[in-house]
Amino acid sequence: MIIPKIYINTISEQLLMQFISIQEALKKGHGSVSIRGWVHRERGSNNLKFIVLRDSSNIIQCVLKKEDFKKQWDDIDKIQVEASIELHGTLKKDERAPTGYELHVNDFRIIGTSDKYPITKDQSYEYLLDMRHLSIRNRSMTATLKIRSTIFGAIHDYFRSKGFYEYQSPSLTPNACEGGSTLFKVDYFGKEIYLTQTWQLYAEAGIQALERIYCIAPSFRAEKSKTSRHLTEYWHAEMEEAWCDFTKLQDYGEGLIKHIVAEVIKKNQEDLKVLGRDVNKLRPVLAKPFPRMTYDNALEILEKKGKMKVKWGKDIRTNEEDMLSKLYDTPIIVTRYPKEIKAFYMKEDPKNSKVVLGFDMIAPDGYGELIGASEREDNIDKLMKRLKDQGENPKNYSWYLDTRRYGSVPHAGFGMGVERVIAWICGLENIKDAIAFPRTMTRLAP
Ligand code: 4AD
Ligand code: MG
Repeated sequence: MIIPKIYINTISEQLLMQFISIQEALKKGHGSVSIRGWVHRERGSNNLKFIVLRDSSNIIQCVLKKEDFKKQWDDIDKIQVEASIELHGTLKKDERAPTGYELHVNDFRIIGTSDKYPITKDQSYEYLLDMRHLSIRNRSMTATLKIRSTIFGAIHDYFRSKGFYEYQSPSLTPNACEGGSTLFKVDYFGKEIYLTQTWQLYAEAGIQALERIYCIAPSFRAEKSKTSRHLTEYWHAEMEEAWCDFTKLQDYGEGLIKHIVAEVIKKNQEDLKVLGRDVNKLRPVLAKPFPRMTYDNALEILEKKGKMKVKWGKDIRTNEEDMLSKLYDTPIIVTRYPKEIKAFYMKEDPKNSKVVLGFDMIAPDGYGELIGASEREDNIDKLMKRLKDQGENPKNYSWYLDTRRYGSVPHAGFGMGVERVIAWICGLENIKDAIAFPRTMTRLAP
């Protein structure tokens, strides 16, 4: 075995015994173990040093006695928060210790010393964001990132179990899909192109080959808003299916969210606890069908129960959406919005040409829109007209329009903002904490 020479003191055979995680050590609860990690907290006296050690699994209190380490006491005394160390010792039950056990250390090795750690209690949110490369280690961020990992896994499981292929689209694109106002321009060898807002146009070509496809990839929006729910780079889980109708599309959206919540409840109870998120608030999501209402119904409910009047044809704004969402303890599905306020590709309702077969799924508790979805317009003339109405030149979309020229079929799809889902499930105040290194209008570092 090669021993790193960063900082070496005596190495015993014992310490070289197999390392286990802190969680495994806590489960074992007795006997000798070797663990390693980072110093979460430390305090010392003349004769004792207490270290709360952290690894990715949990924390444990460890105690070193001067009488056991007379020669190394200087080094031990200097151990600071976030130093990385290896410890060998005996486990003892101790009610006073933060996780119920204490490790009585009989050997140790300092792997990486730590300077005075710049993160302490009571620092501003913006400072912690500036130091995100370090604050990412804190317990709430770690818990969120574990839940995030569960959610990515759940999205893959859900679609794969339903026979979907994973399919990717380019991030550099000459086309707008969700309107020009949120496009990021890229100078592409002198030509102006964009960072993608969605995989959708390329997905609509892909279903003619694979029928059922999904992806999880970054999407980019030049959002000039500083709200707690907008990122400029976010992870977008999208699906598209040939022959899919509007009801089935809503079932997919509801099924996906239910599967995600079920997986988080199954795998991340401890992490939800660290975040102070009451798991009982999530249970109704599994127990009940999500209310499905039309835009017209939503306007009525807003007027009756929320005393908010929205003029027909206007979009439901954030404060109205929040009011509506607070009336329910599950996400809600709002369908059939006016055509003018929705994207060019949404299919006109054959029963009412004023509205489209699209839906937004809105999270409870004011976490905003989780999913944007629609059946796709398959009438090429209507598509071209809507493109023109929105100030686009249909010539630039010629390749996309080919999907309607050669064997067009009814099809539908949606996009889900993964950080929106994470923020809601974790009960976060700001979407920036749903991703390791957030990008917003005012934040590009670290
Ligand atoms: O509603 P949107 O704009 O829909 C589309 O992009 C479709 N082309 C998707 C599709 O049908 N394949 O975006 C979809 C979702 C929203 O519901 C929201 O959850 C999320 O993406 N989203 C954002 N999340 C974080 N920050 C932003 N700036 C977001 N913009 C949209
Ligand atoms: Mg939308």
